[in-house]
Order: sequence, then structure tokens, then C-alpha cells
Amino acid sequence: MAKTLDGIKSIEQFDLEDKRLFLRLDLNVPLDDQGRIADDTRIRAALPTIQCAIEKGAKIVLASHLGRPKKMPEDRAKNSLEPVADYLNEALNKEILLVEEPRSDATKALLAGLKPSQIILLENLRFDPGEEKNDREFAQVLASFSDVYINDAFGASHRAHASIVALPELMEKKGIGFLMKKEIEMLDRIKYNPAPPFLAILGGAKVSDKIVVLEKLLETSQGILIGGAMAYTFLSAQGIPVGTSLVEKEKLNFARDLLSRLSLREKKFLLPIDHVIVKSIKDPSTAKVTESTSIPDGWMGVDIGPKTRAQYAAEIAKAKTIFWNGPMGVFEVKELSEGTFGVAKAIAQSSSFNVVGGGDSAAAAEASGVADKFTHISTGGGASLEYLEGAKLPGLEAVRFVKRTSDPLEVEV
Ligand code: 3PG
Repeated sequence: MAKTLDGIKSIEQFDLEDKRLFLRLDLNVPLDDQGRIADDTRIRAALPTIQCAIEKGAKIVLASHLGRPKKMPEDRAKNSLEPVADYLNEALNKEILLVEEPRSDATKALLAGLKPSQIILLENLRFDPGEEKNDREFAQVLASFSDVYINDAFGASHRAHASIVALPELMEKKGIGFLMKKEIEMLDRIKYNPAPPFLAILGGAKVSDKIVVLEKLLETSQGILIGGAMAYTFLSAQGIPVGTSLVEKEKLNFARDLLSRLSLREKKFLLPIDHVIVKSIKDPSTAKVTESTSIPDGWMGVDIGPKTRAQYAAEIAKAKTIFWNGPMGVFEVKELSEGTFGVAKAIAQSSSFNVVGGGDSAAAAEASGVADKFTHISTGGGASLEYLEGAKLPGLEAVRFVKRTSDPLEVEV
């Protein structure tokens, strides 16, 4: 078994009584047009660690980013953590004070007066230019009001930003929360010792986003099922007509090369054999199913068809381990959702150990109505993919006491 968490302390191991705890979370939740929280999964996932800190009597400073604010002050209002503060207020039944400027004297005074089990939430860390630059000076400001640092922001731990890397590097007492621990333990079962047959299901729009993970999964899995728009690039690379479907022309050579490498190996690599197609994505009422793998001129593939669904479900039923990342089609539109929801339901019914990568696939799993049947739905889209690709997560390495010299993937499987 991989020893990814060796040399990393967990929040339970710290005496937090009366200590100032800097708790980095990923509270980057989607907001609707009215600024309301559209999906609270990440906040709910962070609650056990916050509760633990409250029970241990810590003076708690919560911190997160939200969105990708670029132009200030224009982007400030729509990227504020205010709705998150309100949510936490209610969920924890505690007053959560939202602090605007970590660098200001007012903040320092406020923090000095913080009492055990009291909580403040720093406003979006990305409002400060130092955050994304992994700026040491900004990290020093954050460190100046922290005795202990805990990272429970799995979804952001692939980012070398100040609150993720520079800050813990300055801290003597540091570790991870319950969510981070669970995410790593679950993903390690996929990364290092998946029980065979291990099936990977990859979808989403672009082949280019998945090249590295695809290569990795080709080594560790017994089979890969492809859906979503990335399938049309692979079909097009085989000379199959795909109509007006999304094709990444600059990735056709990669797709051709991969298919020819696969033809020399006994690796299952399934592409859709039929499709749901539309004239225009804006008019889902035109949706129909193709007779074969080809898509006629003027039509666009937007979901896998019923024959593909059945074939994929049969493969899923045989698998002992499954990793799923990326929807099979435009699942947000009812008429174009059956492929994605079919895959979700087949995984939910299977007896496999299964992990759903975050982002769109997590949203699809939720929308399918069977989310509670999955073994684990990751809160990190980019982070889970980068971790599975083989990368060390900067956020994890920064809280490790004993540096590992090599990736466990190379030394023990
Ligand atoms: C995510 O939503 O994947 C994380 O919160 C990281 O956000 P980022 O991609 O904007 O860095």
C-alpha cells in the first residue's frame, strides 16, 4: 500500500486548546445569478474538520479562495465569500465574522481578541495578489496570526499558492484535515493498487485535458471507456464521419498514435458505437439516435446512444474498481442526459470500489440522483486528475515533515 501520508500529521494529533488555527479550506462553491450557493458539497465536506477545531477549543481562522477574480475591484462582489459565511453561520450555529483585509491592522486587532472556539472567515484569498504568486511576504502576514496550520483544501492542493505552499513552509506546526486524508486514501486505492478488473471511464469535452491521465490509466487499468466530446476526436482519427461534432483537430495525431499503440496490446479501449445527435445544441428537440457509429453531415453528437449505454453498463458490472471522470454528454439538458446518468446508475448498482473525479462528473453524479451510492465523490476536479497523473500535490508536500525522496508509485505498488 502506498505511504502517501507518511510524515504528515492530522488535525487530531494537535493540541489546539487556545491556539490560533489557520484552516485552509476549498470553499470555492458555484454561485447562481442571484449570488446564492448552487452546490454546497464542498462546504459540507469541510464541516467535520471545522467541528473538530471547535471541539478542541481552537481560535479558528478559516480561509479559502472563490472563483478566479482577475480585475479588482470589479470582480470583488461576485467572488465574495459572504454567502459562504452566511451558510457556515447557519450550519455551525455560530457567528462567523467575514474579515475583509488580512493585511490590515484592524484584522490583526480582531484576531488578537479571538476567543477559543470562535471563528472568523478571511475574505477570498485571491483578492490579494500575493496569493496566486505564492508570495512569501503575504504568507508571512498569514503566519503572523497562526500557531497551527491545517490544510483541508484538497481541491486546491494542486495550486502552489501562498496559503497552500508558502504559508505551511513557514509554519512549524502543520498538518491536514479529515477531508484531505479521505481524498488521498480513496485516490491511492485507484492510483497504486486498484483491484482488477479496473475500469476507467473518461468523458468531457477535450482530449487535451486528459492526455496525461489517459496514458497513466492505460498502464494501470484493464480497460477504458470513452464518452463525451473527446470521443469524436478519437472517432474522427479513425476516419469515421462525425458531422459537426466537436473535434480537437490538433489532437488528431495524438489520438491516431494512441489507437495504433493500443492495436498492438490487449487493452480494452471502447468508443461509442452509437450517439444521440442534434442539429443544434440550442434545440434539443431535434435529438435522435444514430443507426451506427457514423454521424451524418450537419448533425452533432451530444451523448452516447442506447447501444453504447448497454455495452458500457455491461463492462461496468464486471469491474471491481472504477474511476470516472467527465460526463458522457450534455447532461445538463434533459434530452441529452441519459448517457451520463446511465453510466452513473450502472456504477451505483455495481459492487465495485468506485471513485468519481470532481468538477463536472461530481455534478453529474449528484444530478443523476444516485450520488449516495458511490464509494467516493472527490471534491477536487483538477486536483484529483493531477494526483492520479502521478504528480505530487504541492499542498500535501508542504505539510510533510519527512520529505519523500521518490513517488511511492515507483517504489511500491
Ligand atoms: C477547483 O474548483 O477545482 C478548485 O477550487 C481550484 O480552483 P482553480 O482551478 O480556480 O485554482
